[in-house]
Amino acid sequence: MTTAWPYPHIVAHRGGGSLAPENTLAAIDVGARHGHKMIEFDVKLAQDGQIFLLHDDTLDRTSDGWGVAGELPWDKLVQLDAGNWYNSAYKGERLPLLLEVAERCRQHGMMANIEIKPTIGTDDETGRVVALAARLLWQGQTEPLLSSFSVEALEAAQRTVPDLPRGLLLDEWDDNWQALTERLGCVSLHINHKELTAERVATLKAAGLRILVYTVNQPARARLLLNWGVDCICTDRIDLIGPDFPNE
Ligand code: G3P
Ligand code: MG
Repeated sequence: MTTAWPYPHIVAHRGGGSLAPENTLAAIDVGARHGHKMIEFDVKLAQDGQIFLLHDDTLDRTSDGWGVAGELPWDKLVQLDAGNWYNSAYKGERLPLLLEVAERCRQHGMMANIEIKPTIGTDDETGRVVALAARLLWQGQTEPLLSSFSVEALEAAQRTVPDLPRGLLLDEWDDNWQALTERLGCVSLHINHKELTAERVATLKAAGLRILVYTVNQPARARLLLNWGVDCICTDRIDLIGPDFPNE
């Protein structure tokens, strides 16, 4: 298990937060233009195993396609528009492959939190394939931090590339956090910030975990969480909570 924590205290959610169409190369460019040093994004598998970025199970909300994304092969997914739903200025923006995102991160000198979001029924395969790809694609860069709400996907990642850092995602507090993170060899807990109190932060830190919180869009709240000892703020307001947001 990797114990080093090279990651900055502010992370741009879905690449460019709310300032660009989520999980696109354009979003990563917007994050970089705001000076961000690390992005979070969501990945899943196409029907033919290609790894690409998308948050939802279905294509409907963030593209001009419809239906379950993971049931389509990449040659169909690549034809979709993933920018126009957000703003016509982004018309023509495609769903990106993880391969392209790794290259864009390299160009911008940005670190990555790869959230594994498997299509239903593909947790093990997605965890395995994403971990292998992450190891290969990020060679020579700071290791990406893998995370997932799926315990099965994290187990597969752990089995496949044990030394890539992993974080367990929780949308609600789970009293079983310690057993779970220990079993999965996690370096971090990634949790909905609304679930945290100063006491919970202290308990997690005492157990040796790093803490990433999402999605924090108010500077005063970010300030409080950092004061409690949270390590990373994942934000949609990449303009208000920028890379120079004070960390003390
Ligand atoms: O990884 C933090 C956050 O992205 C988890 O929630 O739904 O925005 O992917 P979601
Ligand atoms: Mg996410």
